[in-house]
Amino acid sequence: MEQTVRKVYVGNYSDLPERIGKTVVLEDKEIAVFKLTSGKLHAIENRCPHKGGVLSEGMVSGEHVFCPLHDWKINMTDGLVQAPDEGCVQTFDVVQEGEEVYVKVPENEA
Ligand code: FES
Repeated sequence: MEQTVRKVYVGNYSDLPERIGKTVVLEDKEIAVFKLTSGKLHAIENRCPHKGGVLSEGMVSGEHVFCPLHDWKINMTDGLVQAPDEGCVQTFDVVQEGEEVYVKVPENEA
């Protein structure tokens, strides 16, 4: 079965602050989009797998974000929680068209 992907507008690249999460609200989930110091963009589910901490409010270090509630360290590239904790968050593709930044959200999960 083919999966449809929805492109959701996040904002203009130059308006996104570095290392501060930007929240994109969908019907039933939130996505946190981060611009790293390297200029790279990452998008992950805005909900910590531990107890639902809001990851867009977390501290960013390199490719990782630290959950603001209990400091779990999550890799934004693959969504994996770093040891000694375990779990993962969903990651999303980010596309840039000129200045405009979008996240790609699989339709059946939006
Ligand atoms: S809710 Fe994220 S570490 Fe506890």
